[in-house]
Amino acid sequence: MDEATLRSLLEALTATPDNAALRLAVIRGLHANGDPRAADYADRLTPGSCTPVDRAFVAAVLLRAGAASRALTFADGPEPELQIVRARVLLAQGDQPAALVAYDAAVQANPTFEDRDLRLQLLAKVTVHEAHGDGPRLRVVSNDDTDRSELDRLLHPEAPPITFEDVGGLAEIKTAIEKKIILPFQKPALFAKFKKKAGGGILMYGPPGCGKTLLARATAGQVKATFLNVAIEDVLDMYIGESERKLHALFDKARASTPSVMFFDELEALAGKRQHTREGTSSKLVSQFLTEMDGFVKNNSGVLILAASNVPWAIDPAFRRPGRFDRVLFVPPPDKAARASILQILLKGRPVHGDIDHQGLAGKTSGFSGADLENLVDTAADRAIAASLASNSEVPIDQGHLMSALAEIKPTTIEWLTTARNYARYSNEGGQYDEVLEFLKRHGKA
Ligand SMILES: Nc1ncnc2c1ncn2[C@@H]1O[C@H](COP(=O)(O)OP(=O)(O)OP(=O)(O)O)[C@@H](O)[C@H]1O
Ligand SMILES: [Mg+2]
Repeated sequence: MDEATLRSLLEALTATPDNAALRLAVIRGLHANGDPRAADYADRLTPGSCTPVDRAFVAAVLLRAGAASRALTFADGPEPELQIVRARVLLAQGDQPAALVAYDAAVQANPTFEDRDLRLQLLAKVTVHEAHGDGPRLRVVSNDDTDRSELDRLLHPEAPPITFEDVGGLAEIKTAIEKKIILPFQKPALFAKFKKKAGGGILMYGPPGCGKTLLARATAGQVKATFLNVAIEDVLDMYIGESERKLHALFDKARASTPSVMFFDELEALAGKRQHTREGTSSKLVSQFLTEMDGFVKNNSGVLILAASNVPWAIDPAFRRPGRFDRVLFVPPPDKAARASILQILLKGRPVHGDIDHQGLAGKTSGFSGADLENLVDTAADRAIAASLASNSEVPIDQGHLMSALAEIKPTTIEWLTTARNYARYSNEGGQYDEVLEFLKRHGKA
């Protein structure tokens, strides 16, 4: 609210201090401007003179100002918008059990109020509280004898969390992931109400180095979930029954560390068309995998499932049935705009000269994958380091380093696209590679 309007409202309020509607307008104006006096003006307001929506607003303002007990007098009433604020106020006062009751009431009445972070806080505190008293203790039940350290070895070491912001381009795929798995995960009650089944996974395919693994990691970061990166090669074991046991243990671990994202990289190693596999044991492993996945569909358990492959045509169609990997997404080589943004991301945090021409470089790197661009930036960084050592002072990466690196690095996506084109043309069952064809057509290569 602009200053002049606010000033005249304040003057009017001085003249008629009992005008509740005017007082609310002042509070809203101050609050919108981030002015801490907003809470002071709520002093002379009584809950009875406000609508439920206004009461919820005033309660939130008071809570932010640290006046929790006064906030509680406003956050009172059966309306869900009041109950959700009440949950926050009670949490601030340390009364988690009552806060949880209010939260559940709010979400029951209106599932869009669901808030995973708040709920986790409410539950976490309850657990701690009980552990100190005489009440029931938290017990961890495990029915698997697989060594923890072995499991941790099977999962690749955790990298620092990243989000969609760290992935350049790929807007369509981000939206698809958001819709298909993130939203049902964050608002399960809403989806259940509309009898919409959650579960199932997304299979990403495309040329190497174009961001499949990166996207999977970013999805985990996006929902603050544990990221379990499963390399199928590591699960395969020469002893009969061992691979199945390891796979089961991994799914159990995912269930035990919710929220989590399980990512099956190079899915074809597991899910190769059964006629291609050498012996009966791997087809048993496939059955085990499908059983585990089908189990997730039944109890929506806070585990998101993603997979990636460079050779989708080698994957058993059984994996694509509804409830399994029923969304198959093409992760294309980055277009020009995406390449510019990937370069920006890759250069972030390194010493860089101010005059880098991202757009120009993007224009010269057609066919480059994200990994190729990373290679380019690394090579340029090597040159800058060499120059720094030679001159005994820090020489930032500049356009010249990048251009001379460019002479050395060749794009790697072409070969894959050529192979994919053949599959897309001659064995495009059910239009599963339409996205590839469309991409090739757009680039005059179909
Ligand atoms: N869209 C992108 N935004 C930012 N960086 C990217 C992007 N795509 C690729 N990269 C860079 O390239 C590297 C390799 O990408 P990633 O491992 O995700 O490829 P991939 O599709 O999983 O490849 P592969 O099929 O070989 O497993 C990433 O670590 C990242 O540095
Ligand atoms: Mg990968």
